[in-house]
Amino acid sequence: MNIEDIYRRYQELQVWVGWTEESARRVAATVELITPHLVALIDDFYDEIGRHPNARKVITGGQAQIERLKGTLRQWLRELLSGRYDRDYVARRWQVGWRHVEIGLEQVYTNAALSRLRIGLMRVLHENWSGDQRDLQETVRALNKLLDLDLAIIEDAYQYEYAARLQRSERLAAIGQVAGGVAHELRNPLNVIKTSVYFLLNAHNPSSEKRAEHLQRIERHVSLADGVITALSNFAKMPAPKRMPFAVEQCLREALETNPLPETVQLALDCPASLSPALADIDQVRIVFANLIRNACEAMPQGGQLSVTTRVVSGGMEIDVADTGTGIPPEYLSRVMEPLYSTKTRGLGLGLSIARAIVEKNGGSLRVVSKPGKGSTFTVFLQTEHPQETHRL
Ligand code: HEM
Repeated sequence: MNIEDIYRRYQELQVWVGWTEESARRVAATVELITPHLVALIDDFYDEIGRHPNARKVITGGQAQIERLKGTLRQWLRELLSGRYDRDYVARRWQVGWRHVEIGLEQVYTNAALSRLRIGLMRVLHENWSGDQRDLQETVRALNKLLDLDLAIIEDAYQYEYAARLQRSERLAAIGQVAGGVAHELRNPLNVIKTSVYFLLNAHNPSSEKRAEHLQRIERHVSLADGVITALSNFAKMPAPKRMPFAVEQCLREALETNPLPETVQLALDCPASLSPALADIDQVRIVFANLIRNACEAMPQGGQLSVTTRVVSGGMEIDVADTGTGIPPEYLSRVMEPLYSTKTRGLGLGLSIARAIVEKNGGSLRVVSKPGKGSTFTVFLQTEHPQETHRL
């Protein structure tokens, strides 16, 4: 937040609490009365901190730092009573909240410390006031308003800085996760390529058909890897997908080829040839299928059946990717497609959220039903080039 915004906010709060020129004059008039007691007030402030390990622990520089902090607090109190509440004043108040986040001090301790300091200041006023009682009341009110305003700004700065830090660290974590997700997407085609290269380098007198077969495999998986990178970087840039008609069966088969099923998993693929072409970005949808297939296999560590079924529905088609695995408990079901959420010990928790985001950007949807112990079915809805008017039940 820039200083103009902060200052504007301070002025708004001044109006709110009824802060006036007269309040400033009344506070300034207490300087002489309070100054002789500053040392005692400040000592009490730090003695109390010393009694609270969670607050004390942020003071890492020992007695020397405490002495320095006492000087800082004295300066803060002097300014408080100075009668000048301009932009610089407010900026320094903001700086307190900001600094407290930096050192890892929880805001509750500032609130408690200010409460104690407030009581100390009021006691000094009451015990040493020699004037009119009504004046004392007005002065106490003015000082309370001022302390409330200071605390509001310190707290505001604290929240603002805290949220900004959290956002920064979440962004960093997200970058890490996305990088991991990309690595994951590329590892499978690279492994296929590696296997074929190994064969070509080491096979004794391979037949020319075999050589051609492996070279074609390499070529196909290089372009699949290339497609993954293009689709992911497009996804990161959030462009409109290039939606072109394509055959879903071919796309499914490519996704299955780059994600070979474990031997313990049986495939049942039901994809009628009569199905209209889907209207979406094939490179992006391949990532969706790959993620769903991998997710299904990971849900069946002991093996099982992966059923991929397509059907025509109103406005497009649906593709079910069903497993007979562990299933998802109802309490997690609404969260499994959230970014960075994973119930697996391994894995990044990005696959399903990428899948959903891609499908939605392609004008489709992704939903899941699951029965714990029986398995899960993820259903992708895609628009088709020539939608049929059927009715979904
Ligand atoms: C009424 C409550 C408080 C006020 C008005 C206050 C005021 C200040 C001020 C003016 C600064 C200097 C900010 C700057 O860098 O410009 C500061 C820093 C700091 N405060 Fe507070 N503070 C309060 C509560 C606390 C509490 C409860 C602790 C608990 C340990 C604490 C520990 C610190 C520390 C460690 C620093 C960093 C000082 C350094 O640079 O060594 N403060 N505070």
